[in-house]
Amino acid sequence: EKGEYRHYMLKEIFEQPVALQRTLEGRLGSVADLDGLFSENADLLHKVRNIQIIACGTSYHAGMIARYWLEALAGVPCQVEVASEFRYRSHVVPEGTLFVTISQSGETADTLAALRATSSPNYVGRLAVCNVDSSSLVRESELVLLTRAGPEIGVASTKAFTTQLAALMMLVLALGRVRGLEQARIQTVLDEMRQLPGLIQQVLQLDGDIEKLAEDFVEKHHTLFLGRGTQYPVAMEGALKLKEISYIHAEAYPAGELKHGPLALVDKDMPVVAVAPNDELLEKLKSNLQEVRARGGELYIFADRDAALQNEDGVTVLNMPPVPECLIPIVYTVPLQLLSYHVAVMRGTDVDQPRNLAKSVTVE
Ligand code: F6R
Repeated sequence: EKGEYRHYMLKEIFEQPVALQRTLEGRLGSVADLDGLFSENADLLHKVRNIQIIACGTSYHAGMIARYWLEALAGVPCQVEVASEFRYRSHVVPEGTLFVTISQSGETADTLAALRATSSPNYVGRLAVCNVDSSSLVRESELVLLTRAGPEIGVASTKAFTTQLAALMMLVLALGRVRGLEQARIQTVLDEMRQLPGLIQQVLQLDGDIEKLAEDFVEKHHTLFLGRGTQYPVAMEGALKLKEISYIHAEAYPAGELKHGPLALVDKDMPVVAVAPNDELLEKLKSNLQEVRARGGELYIFADRDAALQNEDGVTVLNMPPVPECLIPIVYTVPLQLLSYHVAVMRGTDVDQPRNLAKSVTVE
């Protein structure tokens, strides 16, 4: 039930602290708890030399973020591809590949078909990161990591995405543990993960400010989303949310690609949304943002309040709480969800049931 909320999507955005709490519960008290993640198949993780992630839509964006984490923290090479492409091309399977599917519903036709086609002996196992424990994907995978987000009714995926990221971080740590990531580092990330529900709660309090900011987008026809590093997939997710529920054309670019083409599009009618946490890419991002400003582009920046970005003519800064690095993509997704929600409501679209879309894409 929607209860006090006007739409399921809004309810599900606000449920994220609780959903994340459930996802993490009992799983990260200590480093040793990570062994329990895959109790029946714990030794399988020792055989993993490579990871292939397959998913669609929002779940694919979760996979893209996991790739940054897997290579940086666990030191495992990782490829990520949308299911509809992967299943129809011949591909090489490196020895020791763990096949990972990510899906809210566990019934997405292309993702399932890709799983069913994994015949190479080079696969060491198939892991489903999924929100529905009775789904086909879960039944047909030997390893399962449930996201425990609870039922997601709104077509636009919100709490499923952030809980996928939390679950994927646990996979990264479990793999890191068998691959020599220092205990102390793992413990730090586990401690930081426990701050997640509280941090999301703080960001949800920005709802009113974000609603105000949304007014600037209502009459626009296009929006560009920029991010670097793990914020690039976050920008993609922000763009996907905006197009699917508000029907405003939106694109995401890694900020460093601006001058390779999209900068030509920037003018006063093309708002640019940037995700600017206080990470090692901040300085580079700031110079990309100056390039946008110099072309008259209106900037909307979700920035760490310690990043010292100021409101000025044509630049609107929304201050975010400081966030530990590993949680940045999870926390920064939330304001983008709220932005697209409010823009859609103001444009009068059917937020929970956008035109032409189905919650679960069970046909190709
Ligand atoms: C976007 C959205 C879709 C789904 C995609 C995959 O908000 O909901 O892009 O993410 O159809 O669905 P699942 O995760 O159920 O496989």
